[in-house]
Amino acid sequence: MKINSATFISSYADIRKCPAPDKPEFAFIGRSNVGKSSLINALTNQKKLAKTSVKPGKTQTINHFLINESWYLVDLPGYGYASVSKSTREGFGRMIEEYVAKRENISCLFVLIDSRLEPQKNDLSFIHWAGGKGVPLAIIFTKSDKLNKNDLNKNIRKFEKALLEEWDETPPLLVTSAETKLGREDVLSFIQEAIER
Ligand code: GTP
Ligand code: MG
Repeated sequence: MKINSATFISSYADIRKCPAPDKPEFAFIGRSNVGKSSLINALTNQKKLAKTSVKPGKTQTINHFLINESWYLVDLPGYGYASVSKSTREGFGRMIEEYVAKRENISCLFVLIDSRLEPQKNDLSFIHWAGGKGVPLAIIFTKSDKLNKNDLNKNIRKFEKALLEEWDETPPLLVTSAETKLGREDVLSFIQEAIER
């Protein structure tokens, strides 16, 4: 899919203030610092559309970007950032939970996983929780430029295995790097297919 336009629309902490749910949307969620905002910039070929930071906890609101005048990319805050209170951490954050449970036009929630890490408990519990809500999911392994192919495949297989302990099949799995743009076309084709479905 070709990206002809990408426009920042809104940044709110309240889903009731988000744009009307009248277009398909594709949201990016995952632990703080996993690379959600960077991936949105890579997909849209822009450097500063979504704000990124080396420090976790940068994105604090729900950010809508209108793509090709017809669908949204959504940048969400991360979960699991140690500086937020324990009660917020055990849930995934009220804003995220409300967004996932109530936003009616989510075509796919991309759950981003740092490809360098062994399967993490909070990622698995988020995936199982969101899947249990009936939201369409896909998993994206990020920062793939940071490890060799062998280790990358090993970590993906471990993650797959951990998911299959609870589910009969895994959601679609994609691999990306915001640095080298690996996987960019795969994610865009996935989005195109979901829109046309
Ligand atoms: P929060 O908004 O804090 O939840 O983080 P985020 O998930 O939006 O992460 P962000 O995109 O801000 O990226 C965090 C850091 O990881 C930044 O320093 C990015 O440059 C770096 N980063 C993101 N994606 C990649 C990648 O694919 N490869 C490499 N090498 N670095 C990446
Ligand atoms: Mg961010």
